[in-house]
Amino acid sequence: MAHLHQKILRAASAIVISISLPAYAQQAADAVAPEITSAYEAKSQGMTVTSKNWMISAANPLAVQAGAKILAAGGSAADAMVATQVVLGLVEPQSSGIGGGAFLVWYDSVSGNLTTIDGRETAPMNVTPRLFQDENGEPLKFFDAVVGGLSVGTPGTPALMAKAHELWGNTNWDQLFADGITLADDGFVVSPRLATLVASDAERLSRFQPTADYFLPGGTPIAAGDTLKNPAYAETLRQIAIDGVASFYSGATAEGIVDTVQNAPGNPGVLEMQDLAVYQVKIRDAVCAVYRAHDVCGMGPPSSGALTVGQILGMLDSYDLSGLGAENPEAWRLIGDASRLAFADRGRYMADSDYVPMPTKGLVDPSYLAERAKLLAGPNALESVSAGTPTFDHAMLFADDESIELPSTSHISIVDAQGNALSMTTTIENGFGSRLMAPGGFLLNNELTDFSFRSHRDGFAIANRVEPGKRPRSSMSPTIVLKDGKPVLVVGSPGGSRIIGYVAKTIIGYMDWGLNIQSAINLPHLVNRFGTYDVENGTTAMALEAPLQAFGFKTNARSLTSGIHAIAITSDGLEGGADPRREGIVLGE
Ligand code: GLY
Repeated sequence: MAHLHQKILRAASAIVISISLPAYAQQAADAVAPEITSAYEAKSQGMTVTSKNWMISAANPLAVQAGAKILAAGGSAADAMVATQVVLGLVEPQSSGIGGGAFLVWYDSVSGNLTTIDGRETAPMNVTPRLFQDENGEPLKFFDAVVGGLSVGTPGTPALMAKAHELWGNTNWDQLFADGITLADDGFVVSPRLATLVASDAERLSRFQPTADYFLPGGTPIAAGDTLKNPAYAETLRQIAIDGVASFYSGATAEGIVDTVQNAPGNPGVLEMQDLAVYQVKIRDAVCAVYRAHDVCGMGPPSSGALTVGQILGMLDSYDLSGLGAENPEAWRLIGDASRLAFADRGRYMADSDYVPMPTKGLVDPSYLAERAKLLAGPNALESVSAGTPTFDHAMLFADDESIELPSTSHISIVDAQGNALSMTTTIENGFGSRLMAPGGFLLNNELTDFSFRSHRDGFAIANRVEPGKRPRSSMSPTIVLKDGKPVLVVGSPGGSRIIGYVAKTIIGYMDWGLNIQSAINLPHLVNRFGTYDVENGTTAMALEAPLQAFGFKTNARSLTSGIHAIAITSDGLEGGADPRREGIVLGE
């Protein structure tokens, strides 16, 4: 790590301030102090971190450090992802973990191929389309569905980690768990974000005894700076490290999951051992859209991410955003209405294409997007927006859906010394997921509430309705941008369905507005999905509210807590950024 230390110090040498680290970051810094300090200094100054060989950007210093150690020792991006994910599941348990699901996009430096792994949760075989409806067929209230066993899908993240390691790993599997096990056994320092979220969710967390015992010991929420141990999680990791993920999908760990779900007080679910036993990740083709002569590639169905980001950018391709600039309301009129048009198609057509026919190619066909782009000609906000008619070789019609997705989730971007690139967005869905903690020391997801609660509307089926074995539609948008087949940008974010806007904005900031990657991440958010323009509170974006209203948009100033982690691959090397709205950092060598 001494070598790593020097490179990062050099990368951050333009920074002359010194900062005091928060306690949770100091714990990571105790092992590699100068690197972590430099990464914090870079982030606090809005500067990119640069490196020549490898880089990792993710949501917590301890998790980044775990991945960086693997990369510094010559491990692949897939190896580093596993080490990072198991620590994220401990130190940022509200966002992702082995009780959840994930999507991974991989650029292979040897073959030049892009591959995606779908590690999305599946609905139990015992569900019906009325899973989230009351006895009258009306949708349940969101949190009545979320909290408890009903919303828990079969976790996919452990199987995804194993598949990525099998395909692309070069480090012994058990080594990837060392940091996670040590931190779970010895304790980690609770971060301010975790403490704040526990305090604000205390009532829901307190409904289930194991969850309450962990996050609210003696009835008091854990506080920032506390040291929290999780021996049950350490034991689960030890088993996975030794026996592989089979020990997760069968045996005591699986029995603990099923028992927790089926016996959730007040809201039991229907997950069974067989659902876990048959779970499989899927290798799928990446979905790409053309933007500024680049290929913007990501996760296709069951995620709506790559299709919706691709549609937004594809429609904007014929407009000169670079000439308009980031502060011009006209640029945001175009971006906002392109996004609304894309979200209209998303609501009509996008779901798990293994279960419903989908016009996947038609949705990002440049000629279709060029037609849709004509709707943006101006001069005002579109009065109404509806789904288009992409080329679709299927006669089935769908109704528009109304899935609710609230922000949580986490994103990991990695480039390794071999030139492979990895973009992975990982989630347990809502903050703290279903709030159920399995005996194995991890939270269980509530991913099934990403399905539409309604199954039909006006006699037409909704594409994203609940079905046995189906994967709920996601907005996660792990992205790799290619130029002439080579990666130039690795990016993604948490944030529910606003993920799509965060990722599109970062790509536009970097590619059209010439911002370095940290500045593109920092650029204030303006996100429009369904008509109302969300404007990031307390930022310079507020100056755009009045002009956007003059175009005819309703606006809503609010906090927009993305967690963008990105790496740009330039002719000079790697440039990384971490979202100042969350606690992550970048490390590289
Ligand atoms: N649950 C967040 C997403 O999949 O988009």
